[in-house]
Order: sequence, then C-alpha cells, then structure tokens
Amino acid sequence: QKTTSFKNASDTDFAQVVNRERAQAALKTVRPQLGKTILPYINGEFVETAESINSVNPSDPTELVAKIGMASIEQAETALNAAKAAFPGWKATPPTERARILRKAADLMEQRRPELSVWVMLEVGKELHQVDAEVSEAIDFCRYYADEMERLDRGHNYDIAGENNRLSYQPRGIALVISPWNFPIAITTGMTVAALVTGNCVILKPAEASTAIAAQLMQVLIEAGIPQGVFQFLPAKGSTVGAHLVKHKDVHMIAFTGSQEVGCQIYANAAQLQPGQKHMKRVIAEMGGKNAVIVDESSDLDQAVQGVVDSAFGYSGQKCSACSRAIVLEPVYDAFLERFVEATKSLHVGPADHPCTKVGPVVDETSMKRIQGYIATGKQEAKVALEMLAPNVSGAKEGYYVGPTIFQDVAPTAKIAQEEIFGPVVAVIKAKTFQEALDIANRTNFALTGGLYSRTPSHIEQAMAEFEVGNLYINRNTTGAIVSRQPFGGFKLSGVGSKAGGPDYLIQFLEPRTITENV
Ligand code: NAD
Ligand code: ALA
Repeated sequence: QKTTSFKNASDTDFAQVVNRERAQAALKTVRPQLGKTILPYINGEFVETAESINSVNPSDPTELVAKIGMASIEQAETALNAAKAAFPGWKATPPTERARILRKAADLMEQRRPELSVWVMLEVGKELHQVDAEVSEAIDFCRYYADEMERLDRGHNYDIAGENNRLSYQPRGIALVISPWNFPIAITTGMTVAALVTGNCVILKPAEASTAIAAQLMQVLIEAGIPQGVFQFLPAKGSTVGAHLVKHKDVHMIAFTGSQEVGCQIYANAAQLQPGQKHMKRVIAEMGGKNAVIVDESSDLDQAVQGVVDSAFGYSGQKCSACSRAIVLEPVYDAFLERFVEATKSLHVGPADHPCTKVGPVVDETSMKRIQGYIATGKQEAKVALEMLAPNVSGAKEGYYVGPTIFQDVAPTAKIAQEEIFGPVVAVIKAKTFQEALDIANRTNFALTGGLYSRTPSHIEQAMAEFEVGNLYINRNTTGAIVSRQPFGGFKLSGVGSKAGGPDYLIQFLEPRTITENV
C-alpha cells in the first residue's frame, strides 16, 4: 500500500500538435548551445581543467555536443575536501528543507522538459518518446524521494512505560555517485537526489559519454538552491579519478550504476580499509542483465511479439532491462519467430531526431564495434533469422548504427545467450517444456528483469515463484519501470542494493540510530 500522496509526472502527449511544436522549438534553442565547454563545478565554482574530451552526437558524430573538461585527481581531492567542509551544515539542515530543494528541482525539470529531452536525444542518441519517459522518471525521483525522506524523518517510536526508545536516521557523510550513460538523466538524478535529500554531500562523477546531460542536472540543482559545497560536479575518467575516489578513506558510500565488470571492481575496492579510514563503505551497485522473455503455447502471440519487439529494440537494446533472449515453447516457436522477424522489419532505424525512428544509433564507436563483434560470434554459434541494414531512413548521416539482429535456434549456453551485448540483438531459444524454459531463463549470472507471456495460471504462478529476476513482468514489456509503482533493481550479478524508486531505497543512504532514555 502506498503511504504518500505522491503522483507520477505525466509523459508528453506527442499526438498534440502543440507538444510537437514545443519539441521542435527546443531543438532550435539547444542546437546553438552545442560545442561549448563544460567544466567541473567544485565548491561552488567552475574550474578549468588540463584535459578535455569531445562528446559527440551518436546519430551524426560530426556534430560536437560539448567539450568536456576532465577533472584531475588533485581536483577530485579539492572537491572531496569541500564536500567534507559542507557536510556538518547539510546534515543539520532540516529534512523538510532538503526535500523542498528536490521539489523545486522537479518543478524546474518539468518546466524544462523539452530542452532536457533534446540534450538527451543529441548526446546519447535516444529518440524523443523514450527520452520523455526518462525525464518523467527523473522528476518522479525528486518528488518521491522528497516524500520518502519526510516519512523516514518521523523515525520509529518503541516507548514503553518508564523508557523511551526512538529509532532515527542520520546521513552517512560523503556519497560518491557514479552514473551510466544509458539513462543519463533519470538514473543520474535518482542516485544524486537520494544521496542529497538524506543529508549526504555528493560528488557526482557522470559517465564520460553523457556529461553534457549531467551538467543540465547540475544547473537545475544550483537553481533549486543546493548550498555551495554540498554538491560537487566532477566530470572525470572513471578508471582513474573514479577509481581513486572509490578507494578514498573519506568517502562513506558509493552509489554506482553501470556494467557488472566495473561494479564488481568498485565493490572489491571499496571493501579495502584504507589507512585512517574509520568506517566501512556502503556500496550500491546496480549492474547489467541478460534478460529473458518466455513465450508459452497459451500466450497471445500478438501481445508477445509486440512486447518482445519493444523490450528488445527500444533505445537500440541499450537498457539494462532490455530483452536479449526470447525463450519460446516448441508448439509456438515457428509462428512466434516468423512474426517476430516480420514485426522487427517494420522498425525504422535512423537518427534519434528523425520522426520515424524507432531504433536510433548506439552510443559510440566502441559500442558499435563490440555489438558487431557479438553479431559475428552469433553467426558462428547460431542461425541468423534477421539482420537489418542500418540506417534505413532517408537523410541519415554516418552515425554509430547497428541494425536489429535476431538469431534463431540459439543454444542456451552460447556466448550470445549468456553475455550482456547491450545492443539490438536477440537470441531466440527453443524450449520443450515450461520447466525447461524457466531453467534456461535462470541459467545466467544475472537476475534483473524477466518477462512471461502466458494465459496458463499454473505457469504464471510457477514463474512468480521461480523466475530469478528482480523485476518480473507478466503479459507486458519488460522495460520502463515507473517510480513508486515498479521499484527497480536486480540481484545475483545484476546488482547489490535495494530498489530504486521504492520504499527501501533511501535507507541505504542513512545510518540508523537508537536512543533509549530512562524516564
Ligand atoms: P560502465 O560500467 O562502463 O560505466 C559506468 C560508470 O562507471 C561511468 O561513470 C564510468 O566512468 C565509471 N567507471 C568506469 N570504470 C570505473 C572504475 N574503475 N572505478 C570507478 N568508476 C568507473 O557502464 P556504462 O557503459 O556507463 O553503462 C552500461 C551498463 O550499465 C550496462 O551493463 C547496463 O546493464 C548497466 N545498467 C544497469 C542498470 C541497473 O539499474 N541495474 C541501469 C542502467 C544501466
Ligand atoms: N528503470 C529502467 C527500466 O525499467 C532501467 O527500463
């Protein structure tokens, strides 16, 4: 049962002409701002850097989105010291005041929704409908965590006659937020504002590929009134500056979302006690997936095909929640495969800002080559059912495109059925029985999302009990979890930490204390 009056932000209705015009106007406002330099914001000031990198538009890499000033380890130390200095004041700030700043940030994001969406579309190549839902999620995180902090601030009262027993929560200290590029506004906002509203000072190290978007969040937080020093914006290289901060004795917690490889490194490095360190670090690490959708013989195939297409190819499969394995029961295997291939062929592949585009580019050249490598592997391991050309819409420039690709008759143990590809590639696997389908689904290291299309109550019940995933979706697509409705996150090697957008999330940013008074 929900305990607050929290309401989710509404997505934009692009069927309304006025909203389409607003989106076009935003494109005209944002494009002239491209190519500028984005600098770290340390202790309330923008600081010059010795090194910079270019962030380009994946739909057209000749378009420079921004030059990113990359902070050095010395600048990271300065940011950390400033955050430490700001911590006592922020800790003492009433939670209602911290919540007020988050609500103000949400209002600003709502006002700037079209411009924020354009930044995401241009920097990471996400098409507008997908971005719009992401901006709603970012707004929701601000308002939901504001409400949640006020709830937690009430604490718990376990008084008995003659003895008062009160449980309350205090912030941990310095939170290092390390974000991924694939939900560059929603996830970056979620982790950052959760850490802030709970009274921690934050160092945000965004993903290199989505720093201009993170800079929009920084701007929003500054305008919403975040005090100097409480929030440090630190564009920097993850493997050097990020790794340095993870190991730092003065960091109390790390909120990370990204790949399994980096998440495991962070988990291990944060566990090493450093000289002078007086606390154990809390690590939240939300990592990858190899998500399966099971389609059984009783399913509505129209629904199943549409659901798998949406789950697999939305944002070119670059969602941790994306479906990358379709496990189909033998009696409907051929029919499903044929319809899945035909439905996929209807998708337009092209630039994120093209109105027909359903599958945009992938984020960068490295990703493109990695995905192409998996497609080459797949050709040795299985049979190609579809390999689409990319792009297939007119007017597309040279971008980082990979056409949707479907492999059939894939062995459950094949590399393309076990490793996260993070691109528009699906392995279709045949199962003889429902039990076998579930066994195959569970036979990876991951446990993030899963889907089932079925009209058989016993199968639905069994999947509820045995499908090893953090978020199970029955007879619907497997992406697009909504704050306070589908708290999101996985287990096994998909992550450690409690669900974003759910009632247990903020607790991770807090230390519980019990005070007993003999009265
Ligand atoms: P990534 O692991 O390459 O990078 C994530 C962040 O870690 C970046 O900011 C990067 O700079 C930083 N980083 C890299 N090396 C580091 C190190 N040694 N120490 C500290 N920081 C370091 O991931 P990505 O490519 O940005 O994101 C895609 C991955 O994220 C996919 O695996 C996807 O499944 C996962 N993801 C998971 C969730 C979830 O909720 N479970 C959500 C979104 C994305
Ligand atoms: N929360 C995102 C989704 O559900 C990752 O797709």
